Amino acid sequence: MAQRNPAENQLNNYKAENAGPTPTVTTGYGSPIGTKDAIKTAGPRGPSLLEDNNYLDEMSHFDRERIPERVVHAKGGGAFGYLEITHDITQYSAAKIFQKIGKRTPMAIRFSVVAGESGSADTARDPRGFAMKFYTEDGIWDLVGNNTPIFFVRDPTLFMYFIHSQKRNPQTHLKDFDMFWDFISLRPETTHQVCILFSDRGIPDGFRFMHGYGSHTFTLVTDKEEAVYCKFHFKTDQGIKNLDVNVAAELQGSDPDYSIRDLFNAIAKKDFPSWSMYIQVMTFDEAKKYRYNPFDVTKVWSQKEYPLIPVGKLVLNRNPTNYFAEVEQIAFNPAHFVPGIEASPDKMLQGRLFSYSDTHRHRLGANYLQLPVNCPYRVSTKNYQRDGPMVFNDNQGNAPNYYPNSFNGPEESPRAKRLEHVTRLDNNTKTDRYSSGNEDNFSQVTDFWLNVLDEGARGRLVNNIAGHLVNASPFIQERAVHNFARVHYDFGRRLTEQLRKAKAAKK
Ligand code: NDP
Ligand code: HEM
Repeated sequence: MAQRNPAENQLNNYKAENAGPTPTVTTGYGSPIGTKDAIKTAGPRGPSLLEDNNYLDEMSHFDRERIPERVVHAKGGGAFGYLEITHDITQYSAAKIFQKIGKRTPMAIRFSVVAGESGSADTARDPRGFAMKFYTEDGIWDLVGNNTPIFFVRDPTLFMYFIHSQKRNPQTHLKDFDMFWDFISLRPETTHQVCILFSDRGIPDGFRFMHGYGSHTFTLVTDKEEAVYCKFHFKTDQGIKNLDVNVAAELQGSDPDYSIRDLFNAIAKKDFPSWSMYIQVMTFDEAKKYRYNPFDVTKVWSQKEYPLIPVGKLVLNRNPTNYFAEVEQIAFNPAHFVPGIEASPDKMLQGRLFSYSDTHRHRLGANYLQLPVNCPYRVSTKNYQRDGPMVFNDNQGNAPNYYPNSFNGPEESPRAKRLEHVTRLDNNTKTDRYSSGNEDNFSQVTDFWLNVLDEGARGRLVNNIAGHLVNASPFIQERAVHNFARVHYDFGRRLTEQLRKAKAAKK
């Protein structure tokens, strides 16, 4: 067995680790089963009997094995580990997770691919989810990011339609190049993310060789009740490694689970992947004056102006023991904050604050926070929520279930109140629907094209876009090229030329 990798050898490993008397098989309710391989029938060839409850128990459970897959990010793999603080950032945040150098907080992570279904290839050109759950002493902090520092759109009302355009055509049930490029070209704020997506980093070599970003702007609050805005970065310690386009295309057919397998085997061989965590910090005054809207998730904060401040090291050192229990059922929520870390006015983040718990209640049920992988096991949840389907803890016993009460029910935390930052609005702030489609969609992409990519990377970006865009209708191609030409004249010119070649080759 030596030549087989740990994933291939999982069952042999189980057997070796569980040597000894074989356990007795039982029904779901724990009663030992005498015959496991035959249904009860009237005579050896007769019809089956309704009284065979062992069969009915197994079959009816099987009929209910699937839960809804995630509406996005359905394909993914997960692992467990810890965040160790290596640098003091208590001048920015009073969150307990950052309390002192050397402090370790247990965490879970799920990497994913956005558009494909749960059985789709994990080497597709698509952003990778980078979702982290920290089990802190103040409850759960979820940082639900991607492997890109930005996103396609900046207003959450467009999120559903953006996702529809990346998924399947309502009639053909096929991925549709017109849908993809129509939306992209009609909303030029997508240009920045599309350029990163079609660059070399658009197909990472598995989940270990890519960076992770919180992407949004967040707020940190200190013990002195001072607040700053921040961005979170996780730089891979393995170095960046991407897949060549042709290798990725081949892998999509031959090994659609390439990235999940790579992660599992690395951890099983104790080659524990790690990431260095950094923050960028911006004061509220700087945010007012910054030349970009600091809450626009289609834009970054320049690392030259807002340098990365080291925080800690994230290490993944345990594979899930059971995929369904620990990865399929894990539920991340960008609204799960702990005292000292908060949201910012970023509209996309604000839009996400509602969506995740809503989908979890549909995907997993009202009591999904009681599932072992989701529950804040380092604290004891004390609140006034009760009952609902499938309560599997003590339902908070005989404690009072209403608030306020005179019987020693849980009370407010003065510390959490103190650390909750009060957002001050201008006196003349007006509620309205502010369209943001034309808020400088190109200048950071020009910087990316001119200063981040080298000549080879620019050529590959143009080829990758042309190879995909050639499949869209000609009027959509024209609109898309026009947008890329607004990044840089040369970008538009080279894309036009490459598209011409791709069309000729297609004919
Ligand atoms: P910097 O030169 O300080 O940083 C450039 C960043 O680009 C580095 O973090 C680098 O990652 C990353 N990068 C390199 N190639 C790619 C790629 N193909 N896809 C995605 N990221 C890549 O410049 P600025 O901070 O002033 O930003 C300039 C531009 O760089 C931005 O407009 C944006 O397009 C891009 N960028 C900026 C980031 C930020 O947070 N400021 C983050 C990522 C990209 P590495 O450190 O591994 O080399
Ligand atoms: C998953 C909604 C934007 C990262 C999901 C899910 C929903 C959703 C409903 C499925 C969750 C589940 O079933 O558990 C939204 C909405 C957005 C938005 C409404 C904007 C308005 C973003 C952005 C990022 C992101 C900007 C990254 C920066 C993720 C990740 C997952 C996910 C990583 C997978 C989590 C997991 O592994 O379980 N999103 N999303 N999303 N989203 Fe978003």
